[in-house]
Amino acid sequence: MPEEISIQKREMKERIRKIAEEIKDLHAESLEDIEALRIKYLSKKGEVSMLFNEFREVPNDLKKEVGQMLNKLKNETQEAISELKEKFEELNLSNDKLDLTRSAEPIELGTRHPLSIVKNEIVEIFSRLGFVVAEGPEIEDDWHVFSALNFPPEHPARDMQDTFFIARNPDVLLRTHTSSVQTRTMTSQKPPIRVLCPGRVYRNEAISYRAHCFFHQVEGLYIDKNVSFADLKQALLYFAKEMFGEETQIRLRPSYFPFTEPSAEMDISCNLCGGKGCPFCKGTGWVEILGCGMVDPNVLESCGIDSKEYTGYAFGMGVERITNLKFQVKDLRMFSENDIRFLNQFKSAY
Ligand code: PHE
Repeated sequence: MPEEISIQKREMKERIRKIAEEIKDLHAESLEDIEALRIKYLSKKGEVSMLFNEFREVPNDLKKEVGQMLNKLKNETQEAISELKEKFEELNLSNDKLDLTRSAEPIELGTRHPLSIVKNEIVEIFSRLGFVVAEGPEIEDDWHVFSALNFPPEHPARDMQDTFFIARNPDVLLRTHTSSVQTRTMTSQKPPIRVLCPGRVYRNEAISYRAHCFFHQVEGLYIDKNVSFADLKQALLYFAKEMFGEETQIRLRPSYFPFTEPSAEMDISCNLCGGKGCPFCKGTGWVEILGCGMVDPNVLESCGIDSKEYTGYAFGMGVERITNLKFQVKDLRMFSENDIRFLNQFKSAY
């Protein structure tokens, strides 16, 4: 009797191990194959089920060990077969059910920054009048930003409050206007000169909804024989109408800049109320958009241009200001916060 038991036990364990080995490496070419495997092992008369039938005859003291082996085998067989099924279904899907002619998911396009949109438009309008773009460094020296442009040594714009100086050196600073590029153009080219200088400028201002420590300008310079204030006015009127609409009017008010004489500030008729007066233009019907004037002879001379032979005009505008007028952006800080909800609104602008 003991011998019989041990034979039965050995035989049972051997058969369990054999099946366990087989199911590690099942193959199927079709759903029918998989079904055949299921029948072979798990149907009522299947090999695993048969082992369960025989389990009844295993003596009590071996039931625990063999029972555990059998349960494990059954679970593994079920798992192996459902894994095969899953793989097969996946394969089937990738072969037959994918529609390769379907159009791809759309790739989201970025948008141009509103300041770039407006800067590009300003550049484009003046390029029709023959202006070409000139660029220069943002880190500058005193001469290109101030001295060459007729700023007296004690001029408040040189004060620490307005200008960012670098490394405690009063001669190295962040440009406060792109007029420095005009200086560079005048010293490196001979008239006639007709340049447009777009770029970022820096001023030591407290950041608020209406001021920032950096902003953007587009400045223009035209130097030739017999350039007059009338030429300046005509160019700016053309710009205003192209930028804000044919019905736009301009107004020039006397002003002061060290580098121009005479100097003026230019207003346009308020494009929100059409000049009738509204909160935006503070009831005046006009909004200021730029500074301009005839290049001071001192500036021409310090840049090596004969002021008896040549005259010129210059103008400069803030890109943020023009953008606010076009798009009514209330808070200047929006321009540098990279808030996608803000930027997305300019998708269809151009
Ligand atoms: N450079 C002036 C500024 O920064 C603008 C300006 C340019 C005014 C040219 C007149 C002529 O504000």
